[in-house]
Amino acid sequence: MIFDTHAHYDDEAFDADREALFASFREAGIAAIANIGYKKSSIEATHKLADAQDFIYEVLGFHPDETFEMEAEKDTILEWLFGELQREKVIGLGEIGLDYYWDKTEREIQKKWFMAQLDLAKELQLPVVIHSREAAQDTFDIIRNAGIPEGMLVMHCYSYSPEMAREYLKMGYYLGVGGVVTFKNAKKLKETVALAPLAQLLTETDCPYLTPVPFRGKRNDSGKIPLVLDEIARIKGTDRMETETVCYENALRFYRLQEHYGMSS
Ligand code: NI
Repeated sequence: MIFDTHAHYDDEAFDADREALFASFREAGIAAIANIGYKKSSIEATHKLADAQDFIYEVLGFHPDETFEMEAEKDTILEWLFGELQREKVIGLGEIGLDYYWDKTEREIQKKWFMAQLDLAKELQLPVVIHSREAAQDTFDIIRNAGIPEGMLVMHCYSYSPEMAREYLKMGYYLGVGGVVTFKNAKKLKETVALAPLAQLLTETDCPYLTPVPFRGKRNDSGKIPLVLDEIARIKGTDRMETETVCYENALRFYRLQEHYGMSS
C-alpha cells in the first residue's frame, strides 16, 4: 500500500481529469494522500478535496513564498489558520519553511512566519511538513531551536547534503523522498537515502511536479510512487515489498492515522 505524503491535487494541472485519476488510485494501491494547502485559496481547495474523497487528508499552512499573505493580515492570520486546522481531516501543518530560490517574499518575513507556524504546530501537537530551498543553514538553525519533538517533522523533498541529513535523522525527523531520487544526477540524494534508516523515509510526489524517470517532464501523480519505491529498494538493497510496507507504516506513524482514524497496514 502506498501513502503519498505530499501532493497538490488542487493544482490546475489536474482540472481536466482529477476524478478519473482518483478512481484509478483505488486499484493502484494508493491508500492515502496528504494534500498540501499552502496559501488561502489552496487551503479552501484542499477542504473540498478532503470532503469529497475519503482517502484524501489535509495538511495546511503557508508556504514561505506565500507568507506575504500572512503579513498582509498579520493581526488575525494565525487565529484564522488555527481555526482551519481544527477541521476533522487535518493531519499536519505545512508546508512551511524558507525559500531563497524564488525569494518571492522578503527573507525576514519568511523567517518570522516560519517560526510562528512552528510554534502553532507545537501548540496543536501537529506533525510539521518543511519546505526548504537554497536556505539550508537558516532552516536548520530555526528547526534546531524550535523544539519540535522527534517523529513530528519531515524535510519534504530533501535536497541538501548527506551530512546535514544525518543531523535531521539524529533529531528523529523524517526525510521526504520523491521522483528526484530516480534522476541520474541526484547523487547527493541517493547517498542520503543509502545512509538513512528506512524507518525515517516517507514517500511523496509533490505532484504535479518532480515526476520520476522514465516520465520526467510529464505531469506527476501518486500512481508513479512505485517507481520511487523501486529506486529506494535498489539503493538500500532492501526487499521491494518490505520497502513499500515500511514506508507506508512510517507515513501512518508520522501523520498518526492509526491513532486518529484507525488505519493500519
Ligand atoms: Ni509542495
